[in-house]
Amino acid sequence: MNGMARQRDAGADTDIPGFVEFCHDLPTHRGRMSCPAKSFAGAIAATLLLGACSGELSTLDPAGPAASRIATLWWVMLGGAFVILLGVMGTAIYALRSAAKERNFSTRKVLIGWGLAFPIATLLALMAVSFLPGELLPRSPEENAIRAQAHQWFWTFDYPGGERTIDVLHVPAGEEFAIAITSEDVIHSFWIPRLGGKIDAVPGKVNHIRLKADRPGRYLATCAEYCGIGHAHMRFEALAHRPEDYAAALTAATDRAAARAPVLEQRDAPAALVIEEWGDYLLDWLGIT
Ligand code: CUA
Repeated sequence: MNGMARQRDAGADTDIPGFVEFCHDLPTHRGRMSCPAKSFAGAIAATLLLGACSGELSTLDPAGPAASRIATLWWVMLGGAFVILLGVMGTAIYALRSAAKERNFSTRKVLIGWGLAFPIATLLALMAVSFLPGELLPRSPEENAIRAQAHQWFWTFDYPGGERTIDVLHVPAGEEFAIAITSEDVIHSFWIPRLGGKIDAVPGKVNHIRLKADRPGRYLATCAEYCGIGHAHMRFEALAHRPEDYAAALTAATDRAAARAPVLEQRDAPAALVIEEWGDYLLDWLGIT
């Protein structure tokens, strides 16, 4: 180890001794990788691996069965893509190394085997796996579905008991619930990433989804289809309550929603206000009132 590396290690020892101890316990890679380099590579890998998996809007941190199926599908696809990548890289290296030696192999066999049979079999297998989560979605209307209606740029939720909430969907934890989704104006998309997949909210049409939150908690949700200037602000949240608390929470939330300002005022997304102001300014400047 050279002097500079020693210095870096000594510095690291005083800063984060626990981490460095852990680092020194790692295999040395036959001395080719210094400890700071290992720490750096480890930190990058951990950030990429763990950072991608958590977060309020992460599909890789599922909190219900529908989202779990999607996350599993994602990992299967990633694994499949990785195996194919390894195969392609291996073949490329083989081709490069064997070009000089003029190895004798049948081009026809390679083309049919790796160019046709392998991709068709792989893509069919991945397609079959990917169809499964979609096939498990309900198709027909369900009794006791919560009606979710999208508007520019907020959501209203109407419950079977006549309750209504705005931008907060209340559900019982540990139980499946059905949502009937539609839109008042343009196409939006209903998406609670940790509970399930996206589903379009289409005017004049009702789409259905069945979700479940395994545990009580708050699950952030968003509109996932560009729907105008307020799209980025069209977030909502799903609150999963313990079943015994659900009715009371829903009643309390409905009262709060009723006490809020009229729904139409929520159309005034910040960006829309700015445009309106500039429009007025322009008209004023042109002398048109
Ligand atoms: Cu509603 Cu995007």
